[in-house]
Amino acid sequence: MTRQREFAAVILAAGKGTRMKSDVHKVLHPIAGRAMLDHLIGVLDTLSPARKIVVVGAGREQVEGLVEARGGDVVVQDQQLGTAHAVRMAEGALAGFEGDVLILYGDTPLIEPETMARMIDRLHADDAPAIVVVGFRPADPLQYGRILAAPDGTIEKMVEYKDAAPEERAVNLCNSGMMAARAADLFPLLARVGNDNAAGEYYLPDVVMLAAGDGRRSAVIEAEPWEMAGVNSRAELALVEAEWQRRRRLRAMADGVTLVAPDTVWFAHDTQIGRDTIVEPNVVFGPGVTIGEGVRIRAFSHVEGATVASGAEIGPYARLRPGAEIGEDAKVGNFVEVKKAKLGKGAKANHLTYLGDAEVGAGANVGAGTITCNYDGFFKYRTVIGEGAFIGSNSALVAPVAIGAGAIVGAGSVITADVSADAVAIARGSQTEKPARAKKFREIMTARKKKP
Ligand code: UD1
Ligand code: MG
Repeated sequence: MTRQREFAAVILAAGKGTRMKSDVHKVLHPIAGRAMLDHLIGVLDTLSPARKIVVVGAGREQVEGLVEARGGDVVVQDQQLGTAHAVRMAEGALAGFEGDVLILYGDTPLIEPETMARMIDRLHADDAPAIVVVGFRPADPLQYGRILAAPDGTIEKMVEYKDAAPEERAVNLCNSGMMAARAADLFPLLARVGNDNAAGEYYLPDVVMLAAGDGRRSAVIEAEPWEMAGVNSRAELALVEAEWQRRRRLRAMADGVTLVAPDTVWFAHDTQIGRDTIVEPNVVFGPGVTIGEGVRIRAFSHVEGATVASGAEIGPYARLRPGAEIGEDAKVGNFVEVKKAKLGKGAKANHLTYLGDAEVGAGANVGAGTITCNYDGFFKYRTVIGEGAFIGSNSALVAPVAIGAGAIVGAGSVITADVSADAVAIARGSQTEKPARAKKFREIMTARKKKP
């Protein structure tokens, strides 16, 4: 869709967020590992806004870096005098801007790009409303502002809960707060908003009533209640996270991924998974994960910053940490931790192993309990295991060290020097045997115990 007119987004985020009980700015709290505000900006950017203005109060310094990195600008509202006052703070930054303005809330990150596009499209429908408001019908309308509208969506009245009469409170069409208007209409209307109301605040919805007084119509469009879910408390943060996860799971399944128990799989904002991959119950994906096709991620695995190629099998109970690169058809089994390590095609580390700062060649077999000793308390060192090598169980590979292709390391070895290709290396105490010694020992000790 090509849009003729430019639009700017004004994102309100000056509220104190008191109920979060947090030193972290509310809009920086993460959903699926990404700040709420960043989710919102990410969605916005799919529509290429000309400008992005974020209105902040206290905690400006926390938000600024992110906003600027995303090509937006921060403006400050020193005192939180209400939503209309907050939007006015963007007027200076938008001086000379003649396009449309989309008003969004920084703490309402689930809004879909289609909804944003519908707001703008509605603004430019034939009847050219002055303001487009996004309404929703929640299961429980709580204390949201109410929208009284004609069946065709023309708004007759916007009223805050505190100011509403009982019959107005009975209306279930609620104000989400999201609006669209032309800049040329919006700022002059905002300048006329007063604060003579139950809260003594400058109410943004009042622009609708002021426009009506000028003989201009405004229209409501409706969105799904979950899109309009806002975060004011930790409990609501968890609800929004749950909703985000619910939708992400549906998308994964629609894309051809099997989730055996969808509700127990947790995605990050950027998780990528190929089709025909099977994810067993209780798997958590941290940020930065790419999974190929036909992979099996078995139960209770934690995967973060890792790449897993097609046909590999991970877990159960595996931990892939940042920099893990698991090759095609490779296997990482139970209680195996992989960090900054590459496993070649078909390589296996099936049990109880730590592979850190390592490279494991194709087809190599890393036995149970193998540990790459990569850290001396000061620096990290690499371990290289060649193709087709076999590392016996309970070996310690003291890095920096290289095991040649096709070499075998005897079980229980502490390997401190490089091993040549196709050699056998054994580095452990050698076994001695004393015939009948155990029996004799028992006889002596039994006699000693019997003495009075
Ligand atoms: C507002 C709406 C209400 C709507 C509800 C939806 C008004 C007067 N009321 O109510 O109709 O149903 O949102 O959630 O608009 N903010 C500022 N500066 C301020 C005040 C608020 O930036 O001075 C920001 C907040 O950070 C928040 C948003 O605006 O992101 C909404 O503020 P909030 O105080 O939650 O408004 P409500 O009273 O809930
Ligand atoms: Mg609110």
